[in-house]
Amino acid sequence: MSYYEIQGGRPLSGALAVHGAKNSVLPILAACLLVSGQNVIHNCPDLSDVSATLDILRLLGCRVEREEDTVTIDASGLNRWDIPEYLMREMRSSVIFLGALLARLGTAELSYPGGCELGPRPIDLHLSTLRALGAEILEEQGALCCRGRKKSLQGREVCLPIPSVGATENAMLAACGCPGLTTIVGAAQEPEIVDLQNFLQAMGAQVRGAGTPTVSIQGGVPLHPARYRVMGDRIAAATYLCAAAAAQGEVELTGVSPDTLTAVLACLKEAGCVLRTGSDRIALTCVGPLRGISAVRTAPYPGFPTDAQAILMAALAGGEGATLFEENIFASRYRHVDELRRMGADIQLAGRAAMVSGVGRLHGAAVRSTDLRGGAALVVAALGAEGTTQVSELRHIRRGYQNLDRNLRSLGAEIREIP
Ligand code: EPZ
Repeated sequence: MSYYEIQGGRPLSGALAVHGAKNSVLPILAACLLVSGQNVIHNCPDLSDVSATLDILRLLGCRVEREEDTVTIDASGLNRWDIPEYLMREMRSSVIFLGALLARLGTAELSYPGGCELGPRPIDLHLSTLRALGAEILEEQGALCCRGRKKSLQGREVCLPIPSVGATENAMLAACGCPGLTTIVGAAQEPEIVDLQNFLQAMGAQVRGAGTPTVSIQGGVPLHPARYRVMGDRIAAATYLCAAAAAQGEVELTGVSPDTLTAVLACLKEAGCVLRTGSDRIALTCVGPLRGISAVRTAPYPGFPTDAQAILMAALAGGEGATLFEENIFASRYRHVDELRRMGADIQLAGRAAMVSGVGRLHGAAVRSTDLRGGAALVVAALGAEGTTQVSELRHIRRGYQNLDRNLRSLGAEIREIP
C-alpha cells in the first residue's frame, strides 16, 4: 500500500494553478444526461470521484471522451436508468443522478448511496423533494426505484429544512424535466450551486437564484448541449493555503476566486498570514508561527466550510495559541484528530467541539488518512512538522486532489509517494 513520505520544515514558495472543483464538476457531469448531444466540459479535474462518475455515465450508455482536462459527454445513446450497487458504493454523491435521470427518462433505479467516513449520509431531503415534484419513489431492500411518469412530474414550490447541497442540486436537475415553475425555498447557496446554474443556463435552462436561498427553475424548456469551464476548487485552494501557512513561506494560487472562500481567508489572516487577492488569484505570505484565532464554527455557505475544518485545524495545531472548532454539519468529522495527536497535537474533543492548543511545532509520525479532507489535513500538518511523516491510505486523498504531491513539490515541499 503506497504512502506519502514528507520531510517537514521546508518553507513553500511559488505559484500553482488550482484544479477544477470536484463538488462542482460532479453535478455538472450528471446534468449532461439532460440532453442528447455532445457537452464539452473544460477544467475537469483528474480525480477518482470524477472517474467513478464517468464510469457511471458510460454504463448508462453515454459516450465519454477525455483529453487532458477536457471531457466530452454525449448522452444521445442513453439506454439505461439503473446504477448498480458496486458503482453507487464507489461514491455516495452518485445520488445526484436521481434528478437527472428522472428529468430525462422519467425513471431511475439506484441503490442507497450508503454512509461514508463522515458518519450517516441520509438522503431523505433528496427523496422528499423529488416526491414533491411528482416522483413515485419505492424503497426496497436498500434499492430506490423512482418513477416519474411524464404526466406526474410537475413543477411546484419545494422547501428544504436544511440547506442541503446535494438535495438542492438534485431538485434543480429534476425540475428541468418538470413542466411549470419549480421554486426551491431554503436552497443551499454554495458557489458550486451557482456553477451548476451557469452550466444549466448554457444548456438553455431557465434557472435563476442560485447563490441565494431561493432558486427557481422553469421546467420543460427544450435544452441543448453546451461547452462549459468548471470553477476552481475552493477547498483544494484552502488546502494549499493552509499548507503554506503550516510550512511558512509565500505562495500564489491562480484559477480560483477569493470570493468563494472568504471565511477561510479571514481565519488565515487572523492567524497572522498576509493575503493579497485578485479576481482569480490568492497570494499568501506566512512568516512565524500561526496564532490562535476566534472560534471556527462550520456552517452552510457563506459560513466556514466544513470541508476546510480539518485542514485549518492541522495548520493551527502546529502554531501557538488556542482555537475552538465547532463542527455543525457532519456528525463524525473529527476522525483526523487521533492521527494529528500522534504527531503531538493537543486537541480536546467534546461532542461537536474541538479545542486545539497550538504546541509550537508538531513532530513527524506514521499516520493514516481517515477520509478525504482528513487525509489532506495530515499532509498539511506534516509539511510544518519536525522530521519525517508517512501518510498512508492515499485512496481517500485521490478522491479530491489532483497531483497533490507533485503540486506541493513544485512549491518546494519534500514529499514523495513510496509505492
Ligand atoms: C456536499 O455534500 C459536498 N459533496 C461535501 O463535500 C460537503 O461537505 C457538503 O456538501 C456540505 O457542504 C459534494 O458536493 C459532492 P449536504 P452533501 O447534503 O450534498 C444532512 C468533500 O469533502 N442531510 O449539504 O452530501 C447531512 O447529513 C465533501 O468534498 C440530511 O439530513 O452534503 C449533513 O449533515 C464531503 N438529509 C447536512 O445535511 C439529506 O437528504 C449537509 O449535507 C441530505 C443531507
